[in-house]
Amino acid sequence: MNYRHAFHAGNFADLQKHAILLALLKALTADETPLSVIDTHAGAGAYDLGGDMALRSGEAAAGIGRLLAMPDAPAVFAPLVAAVKALNGGGAGGLYPGSPLLVARHLRRTDRYTACELRADDFDSLRRTLAPYAFAQAVQADGYATAAARAGKGGRTFVLIDPPFERSDDYAQIVGATKAVLARDKDAVIAAWMPLKDLETFDAFMRAMETVTNDALAAELRLRPLTDPMKMNGCAMVMVGTPASAEGAIAEVTTWLADHLGETGAKARIWRA
Ligand SMILES: C[S@@+](CC[C@H](N)C(=O)[O-])C[C@H]1O[C@@H](n2cnc3c(N)ncnc32)[C@H](O)[C@@H]1O
Repeated sequence: MNYRHAFHAGNFADLQKHAILLALLKALTADETPLSVIDTHAGAGAYDLGGDMALRSGEAAAGIGRLLAMPDAPAVFAPLVAAVKALNGGGAGGLYPGSPLLVARHLRRTDRYTACELRADDFDSLRRTLAPYAFAQAVQADGYATAAARAGKGGRTFVLIDPPFERSDDYAQIVGATKAVLARDKDAVIAAWMPLKDLETFDAFMRAMETVTNDALAAELRLRPLTDPMKMNGCAMVMVGTPASAEGAIAEVTTWLADHLGETGAKARIWRA
């Protein structure tokens, strides 16, 4: 496990993932039903963009750095921008929230949050980040197995799956976890992030998803044409059980990022399997 999210925190992929995450949380907390969120790959919780790893990659400067500098960023990013500013004491600063802090700060006391992280150092940071939130639990355990075991235990289920894709079986594991979660709660909402390198891999994943659900929504953010499979050419969020009220935000976030952070030939593609 060599992956460190600190190299990538606040990059274009985090902007799509986290803006969509906040749109889903808004839709899923709109009524009184308690929400149970399981974050299968939680990471450290929050990141210092002035730290060595973030500065070495430069990815945050090209992502959240550019978004914050744009005076005309659309309203769909306002919740994410507000979360970043809140973490930095209301002003500019070098801290960026990971999914744990975004989730914890948008849940109610009646909701539950399980955040899974395997790496000891990132788990330690995750545990400290979530300590103030009584409804949140950090667990140092495999996220896929935890989602399969804890889904459907009361309230509405929302599972965020955000693996590092260091292992080639992450695509199959996402499909397996989706099947297991839906078996425990057929109304569960699931959102999985993945890199876009070549179309064959993504299409094969979507065909595999079709064997476990007929309700998958893909939001592809292509930063450039997918001609070089050795590069990360973009990313995608694939969602199951997407609340209708979040669909507009999902399309708007993805299209805006393609238009403003992409290269020639960039595009957003929103479609249902
Ligand atoms: C992409 S990062 C997560 C970023 C986080 N979701 C966010 O948005 O801030 C993936 C994390 O998953 C952890 N990880 C890898 N395999 C795991 C597994 N099977 N279960 C739980 N965590 C895992 C890695 O150590 C890494 O910190």
